[in-house]
Amino acid sequence: MLKNLDIELNDLRFSYNNEDEVIKGISMYLKKGSFSAFVGPSGGGKSTLSKLIGAYYDPSQGEIKLGNVEYKNIPLKQIYNSIAYVSQDNFLFDESIRENIRMGKLGASDEEVEKVARESGCHEFIINLEKGYDTKVGSGGGHLSGGERQRIAIARAMLKNAPIVILDEATAYIDPENERLVQKAISKLLDGKTVIVIAHRLSTIKDSDQIFVIKDGKLDRQGRHEELLEKSGLYKDMWLAHIGAKEVIEYD
Ligand SMILES: Nc1ncnc2c1ncn2[C@@H]1O[C@H](COP(=O)(O)OP(=O)(O)OP(=O)(O)O)[C@@H](O)[C@H]1O
Ligand SMILES: [Mg+2]
Repeated sequence: MLKNLDIELNDLRFSYNNEDEVIKGISMYLKKGSFSAFVGPSGGGKSTLSKLIGAYYDPSQGEIKLGNVEYKNIPLKQIYNSIAYVSQDNFLFDESIRENIRMGKLGASDEEVEKVARESGCHEFIINLEKGYDTKVGSGGGHLSGGERQRIAIARAMLKNAPIVILDEATAYIDPENERLVQKAISKLLDGKTVIVIAHRLSTIKDSDQIFVIKDGKLDRQGRHEELLEKSGLYKDMWLAHIGAKEVIEYD
């Protein structure tokens, strides 16, 4: 058994299909129960890094440890059971909404499915669909809005109740009401977990224990919000752009 669930990356490197490296030697330490954020320019490697931590790919070089044990010495199933990964494209299967949520924990009862649907703010819109929980979502989750799809993915992760949650925030535009509902669902999902959030809206991760600025496959800087505002020009620019964008929307 694993003694603790700290996550450690040592000089991690990765390339897709032996092409150019997209993760170019990243080391970091994420303590159990901490809240970390990955931020940085598009294409910098944030999603790739989170998928490596989720054991979707094997590193080309370097190592990942969970509870001080190298991933290659931990059964894959145990890693998957420890981590809930909510992807950027909130992937849904061509199945009923009920089964899509149940994928978080095979064998979960209908009551359990409905409970997490309520907690993630899905229940209301689901019961208003013609077939309720039995409505098929279609491949890629057609017919549902981006915010609704995201909340279903969050419900699934809630049902899984893994000690580590990786949340790759969707970049797609969602309206303010959906945004509020999604944020509410997220805060319930993350409560008490070790968390990694890949954030595009920096205000949601301002209070993180650590923020990792990832650029061009490397760790540019790490620190808390105030520290990065002082020490990282890139972070400061991203923050100012975020604040600016917010003001434009608010005064529009
Ligand atoms: N499946 C893939 N096959 C080949 N290359 C990929 C694949 N996925 C991502 N890449 C490449 O790897 C690099 C890092 O991409 P990644 O998706 O990790 O960036 P990101 O920081 O998550 O960006 P964003 O903020 O836009 O989500 C990019 O150059 C991208 O084109
Ligand atoms: Mg990404």
